[in-house]
Amino acid sequence: MQGELIRASQSRLPEERLRPERPRSDCPVLLSQRLVLRAPHEEDIDALAHLANNANIATMVSRMPYPYSAKDAADFVRRAKTGEIGKCVYAITRGDNGAFLGCCGLEPQEDNQTVEIGYWLGEPHWNQGYATEAAHVLIDMAFRTREIDYIDARCRVTNVASRRVIQKCGFQFQGSGMFGSLAMGGMVAVEWFRLDRKTWMSLRSWGELR
Ligand SMILES: CC(C)(COP(=O)(O)OP(=O)(O)OC[C@H]1O[C@@H](n2cnc3c(N)ncnc32)[C@H](O)[C@@H]1OP(=O)(O)O)[C@@H](O)C(=O)NCCC(=O)NCCS
Repeated sequence: MQGELIRASQSRLPEERLRPERPRSDCPVLLSQRLVLRAPHEEDIDALAHLANNANIATMVSRMPYPYSAKDAADFVRRAKTGEIGKCVYAITRGDNGAFLGCCGLEPQEDNQTVEIGYWLGEPHWNQGYATEAAHVLIDMAFRTREIDYIDARCRVTNVASRRVIQKCGFQFQGSGMFGSLAMGGMVAVEWFRLDRKTWMSLRSWGELR
């Protein structure tokens, strides 16, 4: 019986094999070399309020208020738990000591084939590869567990660090546009990037050819 199941799964085309047989909509805990991505909880509130109260972060994302209070942090954790801000919100934490570093998440788009990725890291933790590491496991989870064909990313045209993270994940430039920024009090110019399932599969299999 098990042999039949294995043969059945191996007989699928490579592209089909990497599609989930039973798509899931929850957010499993994700592990990478240095990080644990898990649901935000009450113990994160102090660190979240401290790190998020930073104009260098708020002005680069769409919906983060600035200044950012402990009440905003508590509200964020509550809304993440109830699913009000999307069903896939993660706290990015260090695997060795559990320290809270920032947040990331996936937001389904209206076409049901696309999710948009978002992330921020506390400024003391920038430029150590954490955002890229978190994005890699989040992207892998999204393509492996959801029936999606695309992951989108948007960053302000001035956001050199985020554009670099997006490039290191294999996204390709699609165009320019605008999005609303709460902290900027209006619309800001952004670049739109996309990673499609076949490009992701190609990147994932590249190492196996060596
Ligand atoms: C964008 C952000 C998440 C990046 O986090 P991070 O953990 O520092 O990212 P990584 O270390 O994985 O990669 C950052 C890359 O940007 C590069 N970089 C950072 N600042 C740079 C600058 N001023 N000029 C050129 N490159 C820069 C780093 O060198 C690194 O690239 P490399 O690995 O090729 O050297 C973080 O800066 C942040 O939270 N910013 C505010 C919120 C935000 O912009 N969120 C994204 C919204 S789209």
